[in-house]
Amino acid sequence: MIIKFNFYSYIHLYLFPLDLLQYRSFYIIFYLLIAYGCSKTESKKFSIGSPESKGLDIFNRMACNACHSIDGSLKLGPSMKNQYGKEIRHTDGSIAIIDDNYIRESLTDPLKHIVEGYTPIMPSYKPILKEEDFINLIAFIKTLDK
Ligand code: HEC
Repeated sequence: MIIKFNFYSYIHLYLFPLDLLQYRSFYIIFYLLIAYGCSKTESKKFSIGSPESKGLDIFNRMACNACHSIDGSLKLGPSMKNQYGKEIRHTDGSIAIIDDNYIRESLTDPLKHIVEGYTPIMPSYKPILKEEDFINLIAFIKTLDK
């Protein structure tokens, strides 16, 4: 068998020094998985400096992600996935549609309306966030409904 050395075989030998091309199918799958993983995270990235990417940054820095997931999983607060545009019921029986104003209100006055099924623990971000931060956060939350 002729072993042709190319770029990938060097990487391969570096990663699996003992198996000289014995597990061909295994490492084909391995590389496919890496390629798939890279393309997936790539497509989720926002362009640098866009409102969405700044919003994501604030979402992490302000610890929103401690209480709100973005993948639908349950945390202390409602997940932000598919939340924009949704109708939600409050503990006082009123119903609101999540839009720009509602998100703004939730951030500046979180205890005004409490989402049914949750406890009123969200802190007010009024003293911390700037006008630009609200716009960026809203832009980011909007992207989560796709
Ligand atoms: C300590 C936990 C906690 C943190 C931190 C937190 N939240 Fe909340 N948030 C909640 C809970 C609980 C609710 C639901 C109860 C309510 O309405 O107050 C909520 C409600 C909301 C709502 C409105 C309702 C809805 O149905 O989706 C939005 C929007 C929101 N949070 C966004 C944010 C953003 C953005 C941040 C970060 C700047 C943040 N939250 C930080 C706990 C938190």
